[in-house]
Amino acid sequence: ELHRIPHPPYRLPLLGDVLGASRRTPVQDSLKYARRLGPVFRRSAFGKEFVFTWGAGLVADLADESRFAKHVGLGVANLRPVAGDGLFTAYNHEPNWQLAHDVLAPGFSREAMAGYHPMMLAVAERLTEHWDRAAAGGRPVDVPGDMTKLTLETIARTGFGHDFGSFERSRPHPFVTAMVGTLSHAQRLNSVPAPLSPLLLRRAGRRNAADIACLNRIVDEVVRVRRAEGGGGGGNGDLLDRMLETAHPKTGERLSAENVRRQVITFLVAGHETTSGALSFALHYLSRHPDVAERARAEVDRVWGDAVAPGYEQVAKLRYVRRVLDESLRLWPTAPAFAREATRDTVLGGEHPMRRGAWTLVLTLMLHRDPEVWGVDAERFDPERFEAGAVRARPAHVFKPFGTGARACIGRQFALHEATLVLALLLRRYELRPDPGYRLRVTERLTLMPEGLRLHPERRG
Ligand code: HEM
Repeated sequence: ELHRIPHPPYRLPLLGDVLGASRRTPVQDSLKYARRLGPVFRRSAFGKEFVFTWGAGLVADLADESRFAKHVGLGVANLRPVAGDGLFTAYNHEPNWQLAHDVLAPGFSREAMAGYHPMMLAVAERLTEHWDRAAAGGRPVDVPGDMTKLTLETIARTGFGHDFGSFERSRPHPFVTAMVGTLSHAQRLNSVPAPLSPLLLRRAGRRNAADIACLNRIVDEVVRVRRAEGGGGGGNGDLLDRMLETAHPKTGERLSAENVRRQVITFLVAGHETTSGALSFALHYLSRHPDVAERARAEVDRVWGDAVAPGYEQVAKLRYVRRVLDESLRLWPTAPAFAREATRDTVLGGEHPMRRGAWTLVLTLMLHRDPEVWGVDAERFDPERFEAGAVRARPAHVFKPFGTGARACIGRQFALHEATLVLALLLRRYELRPDPGYRLRVTERLTLMPEGLRLHPERRG
């Protein structure tokens, strides 16, 4: 039933809709097509047809878990060689998904989060030490670079009791370099014809294999150290303890050594890359909207007072800071799309028949900018959109930065707590001056990240 779905006008034989499309920015290109072609459209490349959906009604329908489920395809499927049947890349039918989900979910409970809070604060202090030095020397800071250091250290220490020493390094940790390599590679694989990819990407494939080997090596070492410490309990019940020690509450089953390796890579990657982007975009907007920054800062001063180290409970009270973060994730959902497949023959939105197994990519980036939902000023940064009354007035499923259903993000609360805490700490300590010449450019490596963003932090009086 594809013929009813619009596609770009100029189709090349074999190549498909490649005119005007860039291999570096496939998601932002899709945004352009979305505006032109409407709430559901298709793009073809090399004989394959991809359907994109972003209309609010259709996305709400796709959220129906009785007819649709996560689809492991495109970028996610391309990560299987890295993350295997780890939580993020597992197929719905793989038994290790339920097993790992049940064993790890308590690691994201309220109590668990409260336990991570002091470690999150300690890592944030490393960041402010670094920014203090930059501020004193009148030097700008590399925002995405520093946010990546922060979020990697946070997930590594809270989840795995491991210290990558990111802030002591002048270059990114090899884990980060290898991760960026594999993410970029997974994205690139989508833009070459599958039969030719071994040929076209031979060198890239070799580099990717080396990157994966590097990730494996680093992760195996993290696990080895914990096992050497006597395994269980070494991390006070952190994620790694759960992976190594915890049996499934009902079946008594445990994760295999190979699956543990997959989960550690999954959590180290999924646990920092997107949060780093979210923080970077939020800092960009705060630097460009001094009125918003001032209001957020006033909230932090009011709620935290003179507390040197804000407690866990004091973070959730920062409603306005949280709105800044939500609004940043609206305009730039750092995981900009997710895929849904029909679990039985069905009709999407009462209009588009789908066979069991047929799938579509939900273009969150455009869903979040739909003028019918967000108004004619949808492109404007305005945290007031997340004021409680405004949220209630909108239909469900129009804000989906963390995906949907059973396979939605397990780390959502972790990311929100960490990012709110860090934004508040930075607002309280610094004025954030932008680089006057900077214009937002966004790089894609499955995730989104502002490119070359620098700020000039100045200590507040
Ligand atoms: C899944 C976004 C932070 C771990 C997802 C999905 C999205 C997402 C959209 C669903 C993907 C799909 O349907 O294919 C984000 C964003 C984050 C964030 C925007 C930060 C702002 C985190 C953190 C962790 C994490 C901090 C871990 C500590 C995971 C895992 C999954 C996942 C393990 C797979 C869950 C499953 O399928 O069972 N995330 N995430 N994420 N995320 Fe996150």
